Amino acid sequence: MTSAREFDFLVLGSGIAGLFFALKAATHGRVAIATKKHRAESNTNYAQGGIASVTSKEDSFEMHLRDTLEAGAGLCREHVVRTIVQEGPARIEELIRHGMRFTERVIPDSNGARELDLGREGGHSKRRILHAKDMTGREIEQTLLAAAAREPNISMFENHVAIDLIVASKLGVAGPQRCLGAYVLSKQSGEVITFAAPIVVLATGGCGKVYLYTTNPDIATGDGVAMAYRAGAGIANMEFIQFHPTCFYHPKAKSFLISEAVRGEGAVLRTLRGVEFMDHYHPRKSLAPRDIVARAIDNEMKRSGDDYVLLDITSKPARFVMDRFPYIYQTCLQYGLDMTKDPIPVVPAAHYQCGGVITDLNGQTEIQGLYAIGEVACTGLHGANRLASNSLLEALVCAHRAVLRATTQSSPSLNVPVPPWQSGHATDPDELVVVSHNWDEIRRLMWDYVGIVRTTKRLERARARIAFLQQEIQEYYWDFTVSADLLELRNIATVAELIVACALQRPESRGLHYILDFPKPDPAWAQRDSVVRKPS
Ligand code: FAD
Ligand code: SIN
Repeated sequence: MTSAREFDFLVLGSGIAGLFFALKAATHGRVAIATKKHRAESNTNYAQGGIASVTSKEDSFEMHLRDTLEAGAGLCREHVVRTIVQEGPARIEELIRHGMRFTERVIPDSNGARELDLGREGGHSKRRILHAKDMTGREIEQTLLAAAAREPNISMFENHVAIDLIVASKLGVAGPQRCLGAYVLSKQSGEVITFAAPIVVLATGGCGKVYLYTTNPDIATGDGVAMAYRAGAGIANMEFIQFHPTCFYHPKAKSFLISEAVRGEGAVLRTLRGVEFMDHYHPRKSLAPRDIVARAIDNEMKRSGDDYVLLDITSKPARFVMDRFPYIYQTCLQYGLDMTKDPIPVVPAAHYQCGGVITDLNGQTEIQGLYAIGEVACTGLHGANRLASNSLLEALVCAHRAVLRATTQSSPSLNVPVPPWQSGHATDPDELVVVSHNWDEIRRLMWDYVGIVRTTKRLERARARIAFLQQEIQEYYWDFTVSADLLELRNIATVAELIVACALQRPESRGLHYILDFPKPDPAWAQRDSVVRKPS
């Protein structure tokens, strides 16, 4: 039996939130980062458009605040938005000090002086998106990983999947719930390692893989939300799953996003017959907030029976497109499409989880010693629909604030030994087809019944089906030794259950939650979150 590995901070996840937290925490103590695949594999790594922040004289915090509130459809917490918007520029300065290189442009009539090149995306009234061409996430991830590699106080555990949080109540300790560490599966050895730390940080990202079609990479299985829920933390607003309007439609291009910045630079949406349609839906046309554009595309596809719509940037000079969007241009080319000459076939796909583990602005969850930052958290910034490029910003600001909180407000030591993982009588799995079948079934039923347009009947059907699958997965979980696939299946089932539970709580349509039985927003729900907690 191996004893617990002890650290001052245990960070689960190595995207922008986890790495930014770890870099700051490392000046206060020893930090372990457990991450379930290669260290760079994260949603962060695939971010294209950039980070929204006020850096130009033509822009203001008030305008960024207003755009965020408008996109959020009445559900954002204004003080949260204000704080994150105002603290953004200082965090971006720090990112630049770590070595991040944002794209610059030459200021016209300035003898070659340069300034940050600001992109534009849906819902933004000003150009305010800092970007590294269309590979912003990769540049951020590489910058932060390089900084973390220089930090002796950070230990990185790749291919280590967190299974569950270790909480005091499960060890028979009375009093407020407290997190003491996590059980983590080493994929190489198959061993379950006990990590003990007084501060545990969920930075596990989102849950796009709960849906059949998503822009997210395979890591996005909602593990953090599922673990926090099992540990007793409150989870809010999971019905607000953001569908990105423009995912590349090609049988072989898995999850490839066509950035909203392409529309920001003038691309327009058309039907297969070449007709622009967004002017029927919103005055900002193709640059309307994301929920409106995704629903408009869904509607056009249902009306016409077409499998996709077209995103057309052929009116722009080819040189400009190739220089501004080199990654998207090259990727489309690999699939035989030259976006400078032909419109791009696109469809909406699950993209971002606006709800999550309930936290304050400092990432503090309802459980002492447990923090949640980045996409896994629900701070109140996004409300019912996230404004484009606000998530990388939120991750930076809240990671910073979480370190400040965690290092100034520690709880007294509990002195309880953290027990090792109990595998009971588990044996090796007999029929792996159960895992793959249930995985496919959940993702398809979420797409069909809990997608862009919902009905109460479909949600109830989904709830019943998920409950049945949960039962089967639970039996499998207790009988057989854990594997990464089984853990992810258990987590997507839990997150699917939570999305449906939140959706059924909200008897109105608001932002990303559009339900035909209640097609209008209800003022009584304007500032109400849907909240779920595990029954004790
Ligand atoms: P992630 O970057 O997803 O990192 C999560 C980490 O947790 C990963 O390292 C993962 O391996 C690890 N992990 C997960 N589960 C476990 C577990 N059980 N055990 C151990 N480790 C675990 N937002 C913007 O603001 N601007 C953009 O331009 C933008 N573009 C996007 C483009 C794409 C294609 C996608 C998918 C998202 C985009 N987003 C964008 C959203 C943004 O990228 C994410 O919200 C943000 O990167 C989340 O950061 P994070 O650190 O919270 O999580
Ligand atoms: C994009 O580049 O379109 C993604 C931006 C975001 O999700 O914030």
